[in-house]
Amino acid sequence: MVTVNGQFPGPRIVAREGDRLLIEVINNANTNITIHWHGIRQLQTGWADGPSYVTQCPIQVGQRYVYNYTIVNQRGTLLWHAHFSWLRASVYGPIIILPKRGIPYPFAKPHKEIPIIFGEWFNADPETIISQALQTGGGPKVSDAYTINGLPGPLYNCSAKDTFKIKVEAGKTYLLRLINAALNDDLFFSIANHTLIVVETDAVYVKPFEIETILITPGQTTNVLLKTKPHFPGATFLMAARPYATGLGTFDNSTVAGLLEYELPTNMSHLKSSTQKVPVFKPALPALNDTLFAAKYSSRLRSLASAQYPANVPRRVDKRFFFTTGLGTNPCPKNQTCQGPNGTKFAASINNISFSLPSTALLQSHFYGQSNGVYISDFPAKPIIPFNYTSTTPTNNTMVVNGNKVVTLPFNATVELVLQDTSILGAESHPLHLHGFNFFVVGQGFGNYDPVMDPPKFNLQDPVEKNTVGVPSGGWIAMRFQADNPGVWLMHCHYEAHMNWGLRMAWVVLDGKLPNQQLPAPPGDLPKC
Ligand code: C2O
Repeated sequence: MVTVNGQFPGPRIVAREGDRLLIEVINNANTNITIHWHGIRQLQTGWADGPSYVTQCPIQVGQRYVYNYTIVNQRGTLLWHAHFSWLRASVYGPIIILPKRGIPYPFAKPHKEIPIIFGEWFNADPETIISQALQTGGGPKVSDAYTINGLPGPLYNCSAKDTFKIKVEAGKTYLLRLINAALNDDLFFSIANHTLIVVETDAVYVKPFEIETILITPGQTTNVLLKTKPHFPGATFLMAARPYATGLGTFDNSTVAGLLEYELPTNMSHLKSSTQKVPVFKPALPALNDTLFAAKYSSRLRSLASAQYPANVPRRVDKRFFFTTGLGTNPCPKNQTCQGPNGTKFAASINNISFSLPSTALLQSHFYGQSNGVYISDFPAKPIIPFNYTSTTPTNNTMVVNGNKVVTLPFNATVELVLQDTSILGAESHPLHLHGFNFFVVGQGFGNYDPVMDPPKFNLQDPVEKNTVGVPSGGWIAMRFQADNPGVWLMHCHYEAHMNWGLRMAWVVLDGKLPNQQLPAPPGDLPKC
């Protein structure tokens, strides 16, 4: 597999709010690659964002590129990952942004901080799996295990040696920085007999709340406080994660586990040999398709909305959009048999447009005014085929339209976007990720979005601020953001399979009038296609 500096998961980036980062990527692999700094705002540094063929051409074998950006007004946990084909299966790692020196967390200082990054393990080469899937038009082979910090844990055959362990002291508070870097699955996570206090998601503080199980989609990050029990010498508790899944997708229905081990005080270390007999406590996780849990959990996430960390929700809306997210089909090429529904190829779309990547980067085309034939800025503001999105009978027409269509936004426009899950091929949740911005999730619901009844219920006081949100299976979410970052910004489903099928689109944000509202010229070492 492709790794970074020979490490799996890749190296941890630890920085401070306000730091400028220079990260040189030298491609010694046998494939093209790019790296994306997921959730970093990249204000006026769109050239460093990383999605291949969107903000840059890939770094070719033997070439190098320096990602150069500053972390502005963000602190918390994020992740970096490859953004070319399926390479992020093994190319990913944590980004930890500490607050500015002297600025405390809005909660008591933890005794220790522990990054926990979930991944997905394939016994076969993920690049072979995706290229086979795209050729046959079927679903890709599911993964063989989930991992915690690269380790599958004791519930998989022969994997007990490869178990992630945290040694804890009694009566202390730990900050767990949870990151879901899995390719295709949302995960429930819980630690037996312990509650977690959620304090941050997607590098934004939230109003703290206690919960036994958290839900985390690919691309999302969640910081939780773990308070250890006052007295539990030598006890061992299992922590476990397994998927939340809806729809017809095939997925890996297995459980990754790690251990939380209470240390023995030195005066009790004579008990060590007997600790093997201490029972292991196991967590209870929600059912695989517990959509109600998912909805309840996400509705508990609220911005801190304090004087120091205000929720700057746009009040007036300049542009309104209604997008559908869902699966569909493409015709099977002649002389080929396809494994999608009724002999078609699987596809996925936003507003029925399945986005195909161009052969040159959109941002370069935009900057040099050479968008002709590269992209068309007529992405429809509404779905091409309106229908009852949540009916259980599939529509007659499941075909999607292929194209490179983008939406152009004037600088600083405020946008309200409703994302509606479709049931063209069955209802399914989709973790939608927006590059270059955070957005506020002002509303969510099941069934069809109602443009008259739903907006009055929007939360404009303390909605959660995110870069990735789960569009509920058979439901919708409404978000608002301000287009204050000039450039070209990808928005896509963070399930790698769906993104490859075309569930993506791009926003072009034009320059403003002032120099600090403009996209600078590309760096000299920007890779060429
Ligand atoms: Cu984390 Cu476009 O991705």
